[in-house]
Amino acid sequence: MKDRILVTGGTGYIGSHTVVELQNAGYEVVIVDNLSNSSADVVDNIEAVSGIRPAFEKLDCLDFAGLDGVFAKYPGIKAIIHFAASKAVGESVQKPLLYYRNNLVSLINLLELMPKYNVQGIVFSSSCTVYGQPDKLPVTEEAPIKKAESPYGNTKQINEEIIRDTVASGAPVSAILLRYFNPIGAHPSALLGELPNGVPQNLVPYIVQTAIGIREKLSIFGDDYNTPDGTCIRDYINVVDLAKAHVVAIARILEKKQKEKVEVFNIGTGHGLSVLQLVHAFEKATGVKLNYQIAPRRAGDIEQVWADPALANKELGWKAETNIEDTLRSAWNWQLKLRERGIQ
Ligand code: NAD
Ligand code: WQD
Repeated sequence: MKDRILVTGGTGYIGSHTVVELQNAGYEVVIVDNLSNSSADVVDNIEAVSGIRPAFEKLDCLDFAGLDGVFAKYPGIKAIIHFAASKAVGESVQKPLLYYRNNLVSLINLLELMPKYNVQGIVFSSSCTVYGQPDKLPVTEEAPIKKAESPYGNTKQINEEIIRDTVASGAPVSAILLRYFNPIGAHPSALLGELPNGVPQNLVPYIVQTAIGIREKLSIFGDDYNTPDGTCIRDYINVVDLAKAHVVAIARILEKKQKEKVEVFNIGTGHGLSVLQLVHAFEKATGVKLNYQIAPRRAGDIEQVWADPALANKELGWKAETNIEDTLRSAWNWQLKLRERGIQ
């Protein structure tokens, strides 16, 4: 029998791409999602891409009894990938308790249920936000955790600690914490991608919406940073490459190849790109000229951060493969497809 994996948040942006890669690798997937930031159609699109319909349960991870019922209904779940979380940094400043409840209690519920159903391990969606502005670049997993800039960022730090403390207490579970850098792009089929709610807060969704005419102009937040062209630098990671990192993390847990019961890996390309470089790469990749202006800095932005992914390269045998132009073209094709489908 194929190993059965529970994917929380599996109809979301990164989750949906990961479900497809898990299916491609032969896993059987059960998705739990409350559809607070995604739609049930994604299940159809996953099926259209992979040819396999994943099991789907519309459920809130805050519902302990409901989650217990999912483990009972799908016996033999071997591992969990936990994507389900609220993720809007600005909103988390306005509604901290919503973020603390959703992001912390969901994880606690899963960790409490894992031993009861002999679930071996959990892969957790962490973030480079835990590093704040690193003192040394590229940043390694050894870098100190800096005080979080937002309640959202704090939930990632606290969740990492909750996992470490649970494993240290002797719970029969292991974990891999993946610290994503900036996920961008869409599936090459243009059937899966990122669907922002309202005005996009993230750079690439704002770029593609400007390019297609939904937004008038991109504002580049600050050109007076201490970087070569004055704009902020990030490590943009293709979402399919990111999805594949989860598949190898799951295999590592199930094949008991972990060196420690809690492991942490940076998932990035190892290359930093400035906002202006990204905009120019988009123009080159798509042939579309982008309307943009320089605007004041955005509060809370980190000046520059990019990953040292050497540990993931070595231990997971994983490496980012897709170049930035193909990635930006995939984001553009996804936006064109959304227009064709009458969605955005
Ligand atoms: P997303 O919002 O597209 O996906 C999250 C999914 O979880 C959504 O489908 C949402 O409906 C669901 N969800 C939220 N709360 C839930 C709950 N209580 N019960 C059940 N389902 C719930 O976000 P994403 O970009 O795919 O991010 C996935 C994970 O990766 C999140 O944990 C996020 O914090 C983390 N992460 C994202 C980024 C990024 O830039 N996208 C970077 C680093 C880490
Ligand atoms: C990238 C760069 C902006 C929009 C956020 C979260 C982080 C992580 C990923 C989950 C920055 C600039 C952006 C725009 C711009 N999420 N920008 N104009 O801020 O690196 O990370 O999402 O864990 O926690 O903080 O990503 O895409 O918002 O910004 O100039 O309209 O683009 O200033 O330099 P960020 P982003």
